[in-house]
Amino acid sequence: MPHALVTGATSGIGAAFAEQLAAAGYDLTLVARDPDRLARTADALRRDHAVRVAVLAADLASDDGLARVAERAAAEPLDLLVNNAGFAHPAGFLRTPAADEVRMLRVHCEAVLRLTHAALPGMNARGRGGIVNVSSLWAFFPRSTYGASKAWINAFSRSLADARIARPGVRVMALCPGYVRTALHERSGRDTSSIPRVMWTGADAVVRTALRDLERGRTVCVPGAPNKALVVLGRLTGRRFAGRVLQRLGSRPRRALTGGPRAPVPTAVQEPDSPGGS
Ligand SMILES: NC(=O)c1ccc[n+]([C@@H]2O[C@H](COP(=O)([O-])OP(=O)(O)OC[C@H]3O[C@@H](n4cnc5c(N)ncnc54)[C@H](OP(=O)(O)O)[C@@H]3O)[C@@H](O)[C@H]2O)c1
Repeated sequence: MPHALVTGATSGIGAAFAEQLAAAGYDLTLVARDPDRLARTADALRRDHAVRVAVLAADLASDDGLARVAERAAAEPLDLLVNNAGFAHPAGFLRTPAADEVRMLRVHCEAVLRLTHAALPGMNARGRGGIVNVSSLWAFFPRSTYGASKAWINAFSRSLADARIARPGVRVMALCPGYVRTALHERSGRDTSSIPRVMWTGADAVVRTALRDLERGRTVCVPGAPNKALVVLGRLTGRRFAGRVLQRLGSRPRRALTGGPRAPVPTAVQEPDSPGGS
């Protein structure tokens, strides 16, 4: 049986990866922080697909959690690593504590780096395997730490493939979804009501496209025609212009909905309503 390790496997895109991989006969190791949700997800996958499912409750922003997952990724003969765990902040850069921005870098970048570093040698030695690093459409446009961390994922994934750090037979791909209906938006407390329906995709469709593109040997996967069009628009008109278009369509801090008073911001850190993520 092939074996996949999926981070952030209890919800949204990660749960869709776990489901589709189990349906394809993969044994799984699932990673997330909430142990109860992990146990429930694993039970459902075992029941529905008769595969072996191990769970690892770990916070990828913590030294200890990341070390435990990296140890597992190095020890298991993995056929697929899905670096998916991630989140968005409710507010823009200057309204977010610096420690939270650093936490985002740890989950979006350091965890991706460490788990890839742990899993890739085994894949290279066996001459087969795949790594999917879940990035975002915002990797192509200005979007604070969220977009910058996802741009790093794209550059990192491309360089592993292009510089032949991943040996022939081992595929590395950055997956760049646009807006996906998952818990991420609600959890980050953002208002998504201004995002047109055409911009939304389901997690199942995103994962189907990702697995197909990985099979085809793509290095970067942008699911959905509107998202692909925005990336092309960005190339033709400059990232800032296309980024503004996307930002107009994008999610915003929820204060507009609640009508609550805006938190006072010292003059020195006034910033536009720059969105925090996704
Ligand atoms: N939804 C979108 O529109 C969208 C668009 C583009 C890209 N993405 C990217 O897709 C990925 C998955 O997002 P999603 O939308 O599926 O979000 P989601 O539904 O909120 O799921 C996030 C998953 O990550 C886990 N997680 C979060 N922080 C973690 C941490 N510190 N350590 C370990 N696990 C952690 C969560 O479980 P616990 O809370 O139990 O840890 C959960 O399983 C993220 O990288 C996100 O940036 C999402």
